Amino acid sequence: MAVGLQVSLQGLSGLLFLLCSLPWAEGGKVLVIPIEGSHWLSMRTIVRELHARGHETVVLAPDVSVYIKEEDFFTLKTYAVPYTKEEYAHHLLSLFQIFFETEYSVMMVLNHMELMKNLSTFYQRTCTSLLYNKGLTQHLNSSSFEVVLTDPANVCGALVAKYLNIPAVFLLRFIPSEADFEAAQCPSPPAYVPRIFTRNSDHMSFLERVKNILYPLPFKIIFHFSFAFYESLASELLQREVSLMEILGHASIWLFRSDFVFDYPRPIMPNMFFIGGMNCVLRKPLSQTHSFSPNQSDDFNHRIGSASSHAHPPDIPKFF
Ligand SMILES: *[C@@H]1O[C@H](CO)[C@@H](O)[C@H](O)[C@H]1NC(C)=O
Ligand SMILES: *[C@@H]1O[C@H](CO)[C@@H](O)[C@H](O)[C@H]1NC(C)=O
Repeated sequence: MAVGLQVSLQGLSGLLFLLCSLPWAEGGKVLVIPIEGSHWLSMRTIVRELHARGHETVVLAPDVSVYIKEEDFFTLKTYAVPYTKEEYAHHLLSLFQIFFETEYSVMMVLNHMELMKNLSTFYQRTCTSLLYNKGLTQHLNSSSFEVVLTDPANVCGALVAKYLNIPAVFLLRFIPSEADFEAAQCPSPPAYVPRIFTRNSDHMSFLERVKNILYPLPFKIIFHFSFAFYESLASELLQREVSLMEILGHASIWLFRSDFVFDYPRPIMPNMFFIGGMNCVLRKPLSQTHSFSPNQSDDFNHRIGSASSHAHPPDIPKFF
């Protein structure tokens, strides 16, 4: 009898071991909802790595995508949108243009606002095409994805995750309006955390603190006008009042393409991770002929020291 008990205990522990190891032996199913442009380049690196580790990834993109193309390490699933590839590419390129601006001026803000407005109209139409595509949402819903990897610069990815009730991982550099920290309910005291674009340090005079409070305001306004649409779309779909912060607050994990080498240390939440190093994977050797003039170099050092988002030499098009 003792032997019988031993055998069944062994059998039981063997079964338990098998059950425990199953989720690790099998790859997970990941739905990736990216955003076009440089954002996609970083996400693509992660998708490739997920594939290398045995996970199944499906990348969801509009059928007019410019940079997101079929590749052998993911399945591309496209959906129809009500505009042409040319229209889309035109708006996308004009947005990239704005990020090459290095001066922060009223003109830039106004220009930026109009561009964002135009582009957000595009993204809204895209998102409506996605979420009101019954065949597609039903297919996604029945595909039992375990996680959605998305970029919160396009709120639609977060909304899809919320609508289909799938946990979400956000990949981002930062959101100028600080909506990321707000949605994650992360403390961000303006007296100590220098805001992006301010060039403030973490030791601020009274006036610098005032500036620190005022700088994000235009971005908050842009953010609100650009994304308020998703509140009504979400409320329509979920049949109750849904706020933008609730949609973004759906994130289980926040992955920041940043590092405290660039930004001042700040309070973070336990589900926030800094993975800025991944941007150094595809490094190019510095050109031997290009040199900064003393002024430019001072300016560059100053920017590095001030945690500005433009802490790259101007010929590296990597902004967010
Ligand atoms: C925004 O869209 C309008 C109408 O399509 C266009 O006339 C305008 O030039 C666009 N603005 C920018 C900055 O691209
Ligand atoms: C997804 O499928 C579940 C179970 O079949 C269902 O209860 C839910 O309403 C579906 N959600 C959507 C958004 O279709």
